[in-house]
Amino acid sequence: MNHRPEPGDAPHLPIGAGEEVLRGSLRVEGISKSFGGSRALDDVSLTVRPGSVHALCGANGAGKSTLIKVIAGLEHADTGVIELDGEPVRVANPRHAADLGLGFIHQELNLVPTFSVLRNLAMGSGRTGRWGQLDLRRLSRDAVVVLERLQADISLSAQVDKLSVADRWMVSLARSLMRPARFIAMDEPTASFTDDEAHRLIKVIDELTSTGVGILYVSHRLDEVLSISDEITVFRNGRLVTTLAARETDRAALTTHIVGREVERVVASEQGDPGGTERAVRLRALGLSRSPHVLNASFDVKVGEIVGIAGLVGAGRTELARLLVGADRATAGRMELDGAGYAPRSPHQAIRSGVALVPEERRSQGLVLTGSVEDNLAMAEHGAARRTLRPFSPRRSRRTAEALIERFAIKTRSSRTAVHLLSGGNQQKAVVGKYVRTGPGLLVMDEPTVGVDVGARAEIYRIIGELASDGTSVLVISSDFEELAICHRVLVMRAGRIIAEVPASQFDKDHLTALSFGAPDAEEA
Ligand SMILES: Nc1ncnc2c1ncn2[C@@H]1O[C@H](COP(=O)(O)OP(=O)(O)OP(=O)(O)O)[C@@H](O)[C@H]1O
Ligand SMILES: [Mg+2]
Repeated sequence: MNHRPEPGDAPHLPIGAGEEVLRGSLRVEGISKSFGGSRALDDVSLTVRPGSVHALCGANGAGKSTLIKVIAGLEHADTGVIELDGEPVRVANPRHAADLGLGFIHQELNLVPTFSVLRNLAMGSGRTGRWGQLDLRRLSRDAVVVLERLQADISLSAQVDKLSVADRWMVSLARSLMRPARFIAMDEPTASFTDDEAHRLIKVIDELTSTGVGILYVSHRLDEVLSISDEITVFRNGRLVTTLAARETDRAALTTHIVGREVERVVASEQGDPGGTERAVRLRALGLSRSPHVLNASFDVKVGEIVGIAGLVGAGRTELARLLVGADRATAGRMELDGAGYAPRSPHQAIRSGVALVPEERRSQGLVLTGSVEDNLAMAEHGAARRTLRPFSPRRSRRTAEALIERFAIKTRSSRTAVHLLSGGNQQKAVVGKYVRTGPGLLVMDEPTVGVDVGARAEIYRIIGELASDGTSVLVISSDFEELAICHRVLVMRAGRIIAEVPASQFDKDHLTALSFGAPDAEEA
């Protein structure tokens, strides 16, 4: 890290304090890896120094996760070596990686959803008692220490699938800290975090590096990468483009390295006319409630308007979205769509009324992972065909799939490739594409660009703008307050209520943050 703790700060010991913290650097040398005929990694070499953060950036499908999987022993490289302290090691499997002092937070959460938080953390501890039994008392104690360190207010007995997406990530993060490591690779750990949660993680990274731990850090959040890293390596199409000192580069230069060309930022003023008061109302919510998550929400979304919903994780934004698409039923209040009563009983019915949700948790909710890219893109098409009473045509389905793959630059070998073989960000793009395709009247997007690279992100914003100017209304829920700059208007939710409305002209990231936290002088409206 660039910023060391101040002298006088309490010493930050990793858990298992008293056990020796191992020191050393990790190097990969000449790593190549192909899947079928295509090269995911091509002769990649880099070094993660002890006590430093080495960031890995690159477009979706550039090979970042593949490198991490190779280091973790989840994939085996075709050629190349991994070295620890200058000694070559052959990482046979994830257990072996853990024994070598390597910790991981993978891009796909690999928690067991039906297990408790404690049982999931136990899987990271590698600690068993005399008869191979878990030493539960010691484990709980360590777990409490780790969660406190992350300032995560999560019960050890909670079942993981009952937690919010962000809390699940906290658990995954906690699990990687259950055992002292000399090196931790984090594959987009902050993707579902708000600024506040990301800051907590960054503080922990700071503590880890100050005790000599080396961090390999993958993120599409470039400002974050620039502020926490010492070195940044950029991959493009499996090749290493460059390794830079973080303090000697900036966002624009980094973006150009990643995408291979310049990318402009999209803001609301470029999203066209939001439509004055004379525009018709598409969706009206009146006193909508589902206690305790959504309380008395009243708002309008006009035809062709892009409305953002800001707030902290747990503010009720996802729950509100679920009410809008019939995934949950309101306990009070009502909705109107284009002037008529609207009370969807299921997301299916909502789609038939022209209201679609791009869900936050895409892998489990948005995609059939074993299906092909084309099948997934066609699924929403089925719904749309039913709505427009147009017969479903497989030929048209393939053509539109191919057009979407091109439009979103989805990196896939063909439209017939199974979705689970795509990189994380390319899966995201497939979900967004799937719903955009249906040309709904109201599109609700829950964290639309999580895990999406900087180039594709600009493309998604452009597409949102196009949809809006074609008359689609868009609700964007986002923890990335910079992303909300594409909206004509932003509603702020806190503790289940809509507590403020900020027009694009008054848009300011810090103001939104203050409102979300409930800073006393933030609310003027
Ligand atoms: N098991 C696999 N079988 C076939 N292809 C794969 C497999 N795993 C990865 N790939 C391909 O390898 C390439 C690199 O994928 P990888 O997941 O490493 O990308 P990434 O840089 O992590 O992208 P993202 O930012 O989207 O997470 C992609 O084209 C992906 O489709
Ligand atoms: Mg990845």
